[in-house]
Amino acid sequence: MKTQILQIDEHSLRLAKKILTDGGVVAFPTETVYGLAANAYDSAAVESIFSIKGRPNDNPLIVHVHTDYDLSELVTDIPEYSQLLAKAFLPGPLTMVYKSKQRVSAAVSCGMDTLAIRIPSHEGAQRFLRYVDMPIAAPSANVSKHVSPVTAGHVYDDLNGKISLILDGGKCVGGIESTVLDCTNEAPCVLRSGLVTREMIAAVVGECDEYVMKDGERVRSPGMKYKHYSPKCQTVLFNFDNKAEAFKYYHEKISAGVAAYLMCDDSVVQEFDGKNILNLGKTENEIAANLYDKLREGERVADLIIAIAPQKQDGVMVGVMNRMKKAFG
Ligand code: TXA
Ligand code: MG
Repeated sequence: MKTQILQIDEHSLRLAKKILTDGGVVAFPTETVYGLAANAYDSAAVESIFSIKGRPNDNPLIVHVHTDYDLSELVTDIPEYSQLLAKAFLPGPLTMVYKSKQRVSAAVSCGMDTLAIRIPSHEGAQRFLRYVDMPIAAPSANVSKHVSPVTAGHVYDDLNGKISLILDGGKCVGGIESTVLDCTNEAPCVLRSGLVTREMIAAVVGECDEYVMKDGERVRSPGMKYKHYSPKCQTVLFNFDNKAEAFKYYHEKISAGVAAYLMCDDSVVQEFDGKNILNLGKTENEIAANLYDKLREGERVADLIIAIAPQKQDGVMVGVMNRMKKAFG
């Protein structure tokens, strides 16, 4: 299968709709990462997403809809707090989990009785969702366990030959996947951290839990139990307080002929005297936006990525640290 990358316009949208209507899949941009789209009503198409990605079949997918979509088509028992959150953060990188009306294919939620809904803010994503006029089940458009894609080129690198169309909407500005929030209980609960932070949610609705899996408990967001975001080279992660040790390790490896690269934020780059650097940038949002891009750049050039965790560990950095820990094992 030949894989085309096309800018989003009338022609490519028409083609995308035809592919989806015929039971195929297409990749599309969002403000977080690129997604791999199928018609959420089409079981065979949804199942093909799992096989194309090599995704475990107990890890449910998010359904994406445009801003005017009537959510009561798909879900029920929408609590008042989630309406406040929608007003504050949607469209945007916040996915909310509700009780499902079981209208979409059971393959989307892997048989669970809940459904995750996301309304992305990316202009191209909105255009796409409106044009195709169907709820779109989509995971990140990478091979399972690999780093999520933040450019059309990243999608191509993973899925070339396996899908026929990638809609190109430029580099994703968010850079880490959406916050997943369980809205099926009295208080909201963060299942996966992201750019809409627990603090931001609590500021709107007064309280917000954060899910921590206890021993022996059934996972509430199955994605959390899998290895993720791994680059195809060796990796090691140092705490911010151990950065001197990381610098020393870098120089030992370089002396031994290893193509080692240091991944860290800009403040640490200023203190570093080596030349192989994957600079994540200055602000929290820059660090999130650059993380996957730099991991993918790193795996192309490095034998070993030595990462230093950011000093700040709250807010957006909760989501960044969660991905860093998974990427660096
Ligand atoms: O930003 C994003 O969310 C991106 C873009 C493409 O929208 N999508 C994404 O999808 O990251 P994926 O499939 O890589 O991650 C979906 C996450 C998984 O951790 C999954 O377990 C969780 O959402 N999830 C999906 N449906 C769920 C449900 N009904 N209950 C709990 N967690 C759910
Ligand atoms: Mg993913």
